[in-house]
Amino acid sequence: MKTGKVDVLLGLQWGDEGKGKIVDVLTPRYDVIARFQGGPNAGHTLEFEGQKYVLRSIPSGIFQGGKVNIIGNGVVLAPDLFMGEAKDLEKSGHPLSERLYISKKAHLIMPTHRVLDRALEAAKGDGKVGTTGKGIGPAYTDKTSRNGLRVGDILENFEEKYAQHKERHLKMLASMGWTDFDGFEEVEKTWLEGIEYMKNFRFVDSEHEINHILRDGKNLLCEGAQGTMLDVDFGSYPFVTSSNTISAGACTGLGIGPNKIGNVYGIMKAYCTRVGFGPFPTELFDETGEKLRDLGHEYGAVTGRERRCGWVDLIQLRYSIMINGVTELIMMKSDVLDDFDTIKACVAYELPDGTITEELPYEIIDVKPVYKEFKGWKTDMTGFTSEEQFPQEFKEYVAFIENFLETKIGVISIGPDRAQTIERNR
Ligand code: GDP
Ligand code: IMO
Ligand code: MG
Repeated sequence: MKTGKVDVLLGLQWGDEGKGKIVDVLTPRYDVIARFQGGPNAGHTLEFEGQKYVLRSIPSGIFQGGKVNIIGNGVVLAPDLFMGEAKDLEKSGHPLSERLYISKKAHLIMPTHRVLDRALEAAKGDGKVGTTGKGIGPAYTDKTSRNGLRVGDILENFEEKYAQHKERHLKMLASMGWTDFDGFEEVEKTWLEGIEYMKNFRFVDSEHEINHILRDGKNLLCEGAQGTMLDVDFGSYPFVTSSNTISAGACTGLGIGPNKIGNVYGIMKAYCTRVGFGPFPTELFDETGEKLRDLGHEYGAVTGRERRCGWVDLIQLRYSIMINGVTELIMMKSDVLDDFDTIKACVAYELPDGTITEELPYEIIDVKPVYKEFKGWKTDMTGFTSEEQFPQEFKEYVAFIENFLETKIGVISIGPDRAQTIERNR
């Protein structure tokens, strides 16, 4: 019996690698696109035909040719933010309700989760994670402590269930001495409207839906959010998000057996960024870092926060490739490096005791990157249409990365637009 294939696309660094753009580019090759984890902490940007869109909870396959898009059980969904996002898309001529399905097992982010997020961050003092403030941690905590409210709950006695959960959260907040509820009533009102609005969509048993789709020989692309270094198990803990962002997350977040997974596309920037607190070995604090931020427009798609910038870290990437079983790399934002005399890549770490390692250690807070330098190509690549046009210096940078990481780069992105994409090695 012919079954369809499942490919996974995910970030290999600290998020914002350019996942949204590539999901959109690859969508025509699939029948269904599904998000498997994260929530409105994500901001996935797509640009085409002079328009720019930022998606948070809705899969990035929504713009191409009437494909089915699924929000899986592993996602945490905020009804008010979802409503805002969906209405904006509908206004811009992209109706969704027919082709966006929501798993009944996805958990809801309540307004009180957002207050708890703020309160828990404040309690951490200097140890703050720098969360997006969207209630992600508290919602996943309720899920794993078996206290969560799910999309399926909307269908029965919802008001009662909501009141009980809210009450429990308010007690927690009171025990923390938290009193800042500014704007809460307004948020709650919109949130409850969001619950009603969600009823326009199909709530599905997405694990069955997806496995039926595969049985019918159709293909699925799983869209990761965040990045491997933000994974709750393998990232730079505790400065991480609260879900499994890695390829295994696609199995638990959608109900797919691991034997169904085919390609794992690992998305990386040609350099590296991070938003929020926590270790980042190759971070640059000088004008080079600022130049990367300016040229790459490195400001958060969700929070507008400045992203921290640095050189590409091949030790960190090698680790991410291992954890995810990456079969193909996709290199984004190569054009951002178009105007540098020298480009660097981290090829080893020096540990505090002076030892040199090529393996990501337990703690990366005190490691010093060892760099290999490359001559910059000083060429505007943004209008290129084939890899033959790439300057020699860029080809050398790419070849070095592929050799070091023992993984081919199948796509090179040279600008934010859908069209600024060059496929190779196929
Ligand atoms: P995501 O969260 O992984 O989907 O990435 P974000 O959308 O948060 O951040 C990526 C940013 O880079 C967005 O503003 C994109 O429009 C932009 N972008 C994507 N690919 C490229 C590229 O190849 N070159 C440039 N200059 N910008 C890009
Ligand atoms: P996309 O999908 C970059 C970061 C936050 C913070 C940490 C925990 O657009 O790549 P959370 O709100 O999840 O509890 O915050 O994770 N973070 C992201 N950084 N891109 C993202 O998503 C992120 N989602 C969360 O800045 O450091
Ligand atoms: Mg983003």
